[in-house]
Amino acid sequence: MNKQIRPGVYWVGAVDREIRTFHGSEFSTPHGTTYNAYLIQDEKTILIDTVAKEFTAQFLKNIESITPFAKIDAVVVNHAEVDHSGALPALMDILKDKPIYCSPNGLVSIKGHFHRDWRFLPVKTGDRLSLGSRELLFIEAPMLHWPDSMFTYLGEDGILFSSDAFGQHLATEELFNHLVSPSDLSSESLRYYASIVSPFSEQVLKKIEEISSKNWQLKVIAPSHGVIWVDNPQQIVQLYQRWASGYQENQVTIVYDTMWAGTERMAEAIARGIKEAGPTLGVELFHLGHSDRNDVVAEIFRSRGLLLGSPTVNRGMLSSVAGLLEMLKGLRLKGKKAAAFGSFGWSGEAIRLMKDRLVEAGLEIMSDGIACRWRPDDRSLEKCKAFGREIAAQLT
Ligand code: FEO
Repeated sequence: MNKQIRPGVYWVGAVDREIRTFHGSEFSTPHGTTYNAYLIQDEKTILIDTVAKEFTAQFLKNIESITPFAKIDAVVVNHAEVDHSGALPALMDILKDKPIYCSPNGLVSIKGHFHRDWRFLPVKTGDRLSLGSRELLFIEAPMLHWPDSMFTYLGEDGILFSSDAFGQHLATEELFNHLVSPSDLSSESLRYYASIVSPFSEQVLKKIEEISSKNWQLKVIAPSHGVIWVDNPQQIVQLYQRWASGYQENQVTIVYDTMWAGTERMAEAIARGIKEAGPTLGVELFHLGHSDRNDVVAEIFRSRGLLLGSPTVNRGMLSSVAGLLEMLKGLRLKGKKAAAFGSFGWSGEAIRLMKDRLVEAGLEIMSDGIACRWRPDDRSLEKCKAFGREIAAQLT
């Protein structure tokens, strides 16, 4: 299958409906994903990116449905992570000594992955490649999503090939943003930003500023995952600006894991207290052991505050909670307030440890938290409700 985006510009990628985890099992992909690759035909014929290795045959077939391989003059690798470069070895076995345009870090990364000496032509921001009647402009975009990432702009058509930026993990045959479910598109775009892009929010803002200063007539944003933004492509740019600028909604997220339901009872009582004192404040409650971690992260990303709960076990916290804290540390969320809670029987270290780890993850501690010894009784649960009311007062 190939699809024409504009005259002479085709999508030749792959739709992966079955993938359910990405980056090992770090990121869940309940709606699958796409690996978008593009072919531009002019006096020269250029490929932009490839697909994950498992989809190599489909990718090569898509290309052949448009042009013989002999007509392809070069490959642009915007980003060498293997979900986009996995089919490169098979492609280069056919294209032989045709050049690969990539960033200087792209060269390092491609060689590191494949250990092959293809004909690399490293490019930097501002370098151009004439295709005949049209021209490609390269823009390095380090950390969006890896140090090697770059964008490629086809000025005559107003198409920005943006690599991972502005993408979503959303498998669809439709490919264009106005043809898919708006709610799926919206939730998957935010999940993707929260779990993948948010550590690089500073770079996002700088890159958007750099691109906006060029006053391009941007008609299409063609990322490497999910839909191609053809209907009001600025909408995703504006969302990225908001998400990158300390985004928060009027919401608090309570996340806990529990052994014998003590910490769970506390979480429920805290939620009741918050609702009493802050009826307009949204409350999202997650049992971490039964929840998708990326859904949890997306709700934390949307929230003003996070309340994190774990019982004490073996002088520490439950490993699910420790894992979430490690993830939050990497995401470097800005402007979020947090507190810890949990039940314990003997030693009760989890609260202090969670608090320390929340600070390490860059969250502002808004309370020393609350602990209950043994199974919380009615009196303890009233204290949890009062704690919830205090939290609501701080967040509203
Ligand atoms: Fe979709 Fe950073 O690879």
